[in-house]
Amino acid sequence: KYQRTYFMPPEPCYDWVKKDHIAAPPVWCSVDLRDGNQALIEPMSLDEKIEFFQLLVDVGFKEIEVGFPAASETEYQFLRALIEQNMIPDDVTIQVLTQAREHIIKRTFEAVKGAPHAVIHVYNSTSVAQREQVFKKNKEEIKKIAVDGSKLLKKLAKETEGNFTFEYSPESFQGTEVDYALEVCNEVLKVWKPSKKNKAIINLPTTVENAMPHVFASQVEYFDKNLYSRENVILSLHPHNDRGSGVSDAELGILAGADRIEGTLFGNGERTGNVDIITLAMNLFSQGVDPGLDFSNMSEISETYERLTRMKVSPRQPYAGELVFTAFSGSHQDAIAKGMTWREERECDDWTVPYLPIDPKDVGRRYDSDVIRINSQSGKGGVNYILKQSFGISLPEKMKEEVGYLVKDVSDKAHKELTPDWVYHIFEDNYINA
Ligand code: KIV
Ligand code: ZN
Repeated sequence: KYQRTYFMPPEPCYDWVKKDHIAAPPVWCSVDLRDGNQALIEPMSLDEKIEFFQLLVDVGFKEIEVGFPAASETEYQFLRALIEQNMIPDDVTIQVLTQAREHIIKRTFEAVKGAPHAVIHVYNSTSVAQREQVFKKNKEEIKKIAVDGSKLLKKLAKETEGNFTFEYSPESFQGTEVDYALEVCNEVLKVWKPSKKNKAIINLPTTVENAMPHVFASQVEYFDKNLYSRENVILSLHPHNDRGSGVSDAELGILAGADRIEGTLFGNGERTGNVDIITLAMNLFSQGVDPGLDFSNMSEISETYERLTRMKVSPRQPYAGELVFTAFSGSHQDAIAKGMTWREERECDDWTVPYLPIDPKDVGRRYDSDVIRINSQSGKGGVNYILKQSFGISLPEKMKEEVGYLVKDVSDKAHKELTPDWVYHIFEDNYINA
C-alpha cells in the first residue's frame, strides 16, 4: 500500500531554487510546551513547565507557545501562573493554541486575561482526508469553521481590549489542495484585516510530513506570492518530521519566503517530532549567521531537557549529542590535530578543521575529553594528543608510533575505550616505571 496525498501548487513555484543560503534568521517560536508536551508519555507538571519556560527564555526565545489552555487544568493553571506571577519578560510574547470552536475560543480568552501581549493561535483541519473521514464536511463548510473562528477571535479581542496578535493554521496543510488552503487563509485574513502595526500570522504545518522538501518549498512560495495583504502577514512554518526532513522543510521553506519557524528543542513533538530548532539555529551559526539563540551551554540545556521531558537526547543528535564531535579513528584524529595546528599557526577566523562542522567550544565542548577519544580504532596522533594535552608529555617523533600501537593494543584486548588516565598509566607502566 502506498500513500501519495500531497499537492503541488497550481502554478510553477521554483524561485527558491535560485537562492543558495539563508541570509538572516527567521523569527523563532518554541512549541515545546505545547506540541512537545502533548506528545510526552508523561506530560510536564506545572513546576516542570515553569522551569522549561525559563530555559526557553534563557536560550533567547522571544515567542513561546505555552499550551492549549482549554485542553487541561494544568495547561490553564500554568498560563494563569505565568500571567499572575509576572513571569513573562517584557520582550517575550506568549502564544496559546485553540481549535476554531466557540466554547474553546471563549475558554482560551479567559485563560489569557491580563497577559501583556499574546498570540492567539486558532486552527482547524483542512485536508481531504480530514474533511471526508473525520468531519464529513465539504470545502465550504470547512472554510466556514475557519472564518467563524476568526470572527470570534476578533470580537472577543475587541471586547476584552487585550493586546493580541492572531495566528491561523490550516491543520493537515500538506494533505490539503494548495489553492484551497490559500483560499481559506485569505478568507481568514480578510476578516482580520492585518495592518503594518498589527500583523497577522499564517502558519503552514506539515502536520504529517508527506512530501519531499522541494514540494513544501514550492507550496510555501505559492503562499508567499499569493497571500492576501502579504506585507502585513508573517508567514510561519510548522514542520513535523515524519519523513525525517523537518530541517530541510524549514530551510527550503525559508528560502521560499517564510518569515517564522515553529519548532522545539531536540525535535520533541508528536510522533517523530517537530523540527529541531537547535539544528536549524546551529546550521545558520555554522554559516556565519547569528541565529539569535544561545546554545553555548549545550550540555546544560540537554540535561535540563532530559530531566523535564523524560526523553533522551541521542548521542548522534546534531550539535548536541555526546558523540557528535568525537573522533575515535586514527585518520580522523590525525586530520583534526593537523587542522587545529594549521589554524593556530595562521590565527585563522574561519572554521575549516576537517571532520568538525563547528568549533566544539562554541557549544561548550572540550577537545581533550569530547573530541579525541581513544579505543582500538585510534592511532598514534590521538594517543599523543592526549598525552600532550592532558599530561604535558611531548614524545619524540620516533616514539610516537610505538606508544600509539601499545595503547591501541590494550584497548583492542580489553574491548574498551581508554580514558586519558588509563592512557597515561599504560605509558607510565611501560616507560617510566619499567
Ligand atoms: O502540527 C500541527 O498541525 C499543529 C497545529 C495545531 C498547528 O500542531
Ligand atoms: Zn504540530
